[in-house]
Amino acid sequence: MPGQRRKTVVGLLFGGRSAEHEISLKSAAAVAEHLDPRRFKVLPIFIAKDGRWGRADSPAAPPSRLKGARSFLPWANKSLPAALKADIYFPVLHGPYGEDGTVQGLLEMADVPYVGAGVLASAAGMDKAVMKSLFAARGLPIVNHIVLMDAEWRESPGAILDRIRTAFRLPLFVKPANLGSSVGISRVNDWVGTAKALAAAFAYDRKILVEQGVLARELECSVLGNDEPRASLPGELIPHREFYDYDDKYNDGRTEFKLPAPLPPPLTAEVRRLSIEAFRAVDCAGMARVDLFLEDGSNRLYVNEINTIPGFTAISMYPRLWEATGLPFAALVEELIRLGFERHRAKKRRVDRRSP
Ligand SMILES: Nc1ncnc2c1ncn2[C@@H]1O[C@H](COP(=O)(O)OP(=O)(O)O)[C@@H](O)[C@H]1O
Ligand SMILES: [Mg+2]
Repeated sequence: MPGQRRKTVVGLLFGGRSAEHEISLKSAAAVAEHLDPRRFKVLPIFIAKDGRWGRADSPAAPPSRLKGARSFLPWANKSLPAALKADIYFPVLHGPYGEDGTVQGLLEMADVPYVGAGVLASAAGMDKAVMKSLFAARGLPIVNHIVLMDAEWRESPGAILDRIRTAFRLPLFVKPANLGSSVGISRVNDWVGTAKALAAAFAYDRKILVEQGVLARELECSVLGNDEPRASLPGELIPHREFYDYDDKYNDGRTEFKLPAPLPPPLTAEVRRLSIEAFRAVDCAGMARVDLFLEDGSNRLYVNEINTIPGFTAISMYPRLWEATGLPFAALVEELIRLGFERHRAKKRRVDRRSP
């Protein structure tokens, strides 16, 4: 981290082009609030829904309208507006164009330090099909699933419906490969509902997943670190609805959270181990929240997904789980910033070694 004399300028990238724009505003406001003002200066950089970037006064007050489009492209670096210049960038952006490796690619091109996962892990974490194949390759337990493309579905819907009926039991979950926040996801309780669920998922993506539904408790675990990641105590969420859908996540807020999850110690240890393995499976860095299922009856654990930019609001699981594990929010964001600098430095050292 740059010398103690000067405050570290943290460019908070927030807003963004995805459906999770509003959640990003809340996450960024919470991160800004917890950055120690004696050590850090927050530079709030607002990304409008149309993709333009501009300076905001505070993440709590995004500009209603951006005056003049800005460029943050690396080849225009000399002309990078001073208003967007920071020592390190912290993308607090959820979903496509933020969590999926695109912004990370831009920051790599610009050769600036940033918080969190790199391009590969971000992209892999955003695509549920790729993510699951990496989990499987590392021997992690995942639920039975198939991946379908829109073109196949349009060509032979009958054959696909037959294939689903032979491969799965009810209920099924059908999800677009590339979204988050439960958008486009359906739970199918009756075979006649399958076609409708597929169409609903294909409305959002050309690639979708059909998954075996499991009757299970939902666990979440926060991971932090670069080459030696640590896992928090697991938490449990008890959705108010049939599954943890968009409204449950963001609108009615009646999901119940248990921190830490009431689990026998060996299961807690296994959740933490699997979460670190999931983090390594996608070659993640900085932070991630890993979501798991604990199947009723069998007590079998399945890794459901990894979120490389988890929610960061004051009531979000990622920071709350760390708090429950003894790491307060302010210390957590400081550690994330340290890890961002560490990763950038380590990479630069290798690049320098390669050049003649
Ligand atoms: N295979 C499954 N079995 C049971 N419930 C599931 C399954 N897949 C998803 N769900 C439910 O749907 C929610 C959202 O699915 P998830 O895969 O986590 O997508 P998202 O990325 O949108 O959060 C989960 O939190 C869980 O409640
Ligand atoms: Mg989820």
